[in-house]
Amino acid sequence: MSSVEIEIYPDDGWVERVTARWVSFIESQSAARLCLPTGSTPKEVYERAAATIDLSRTEVFVLDEFGLPPGDPARCDEMLERDLLSRLSGRPAHVHALDPQALDLAEECKRFEQLVEAGGLDLTLLGLGGNGHLGLNEPGSTEDSPTRVAQLQASTIEAAGRYGSDSQPEWGMTLGLRQILSSREIWLLVTGDHKAEILERTLNGPIGPELPASYLRDHPNVVVFADQSAAAAL
Ligand code: PGA
Repeated sequence: MSSVEIEIYPDDGWVERVTARWVSFIESQSAARLCLPTGSTPKEVYERAAATIDLSRTEVFVLDEFGLPPGDPARCDEMLERDLLSRLSGRPAHVHALDPQALDLAEECKRFEQLVEAGGLDLTLLGLGGNGHLGLNEPGSTEDSPTRVAQLQASTIEAAGRYGSDSQPEWGMTLGLRQILSSREIWLLVTGDHKAEILERTLNGPIGPELPASYLRDHPNVVVFADQSAAAAL
């Protein structure tokens, strides 16, 4: 029996409701370690939250990063800066990210993983990949996957174009499923009818590496925030 809680909001109220939940979560914490995704799904939540949220008592870990040069519009650190951080009056005390320009990528993954594991994560926000990935934990990733360099599937490579890049990154770096699933609380954000089928399989299909998001059902404290379009097949 899955312990996943599912909140379904009208398409035109989803951003406002999720933002309100996030702002009140942050207000209720004296300090928090957050893992944040980037991409289309959280963009409007970040933009709306930025007007009121105070992240100055938080430490932020950027979930993943594409193998792209600094400043590329599809870089996750760029997206987070553009959609959220640059708009805040109360910026996080620290923002940690994976560096795809590091000379030793394996060492860089270890550094980031150790930082995350040193204090754990209080809340991890996630988007749902069209192929069921979490971060850049692509299909085939097991639940104990470490933080690592990941080769990307075609649909994930295309996403970089949607995020404004002229490049097609074939690899990226991602927080591992092991660290994601160790987060004390996880919110999966899902919008749009193009995510309806993968959300249904995430929640009702077999749990396993073919669909990494299905592992969320083994976690004790997950909330899925879906809009009505994404929830259409539930
Ligand atoms: P999207 O990406 O929010 O741009 O749809 C989700 C994901 O790949 O995690």
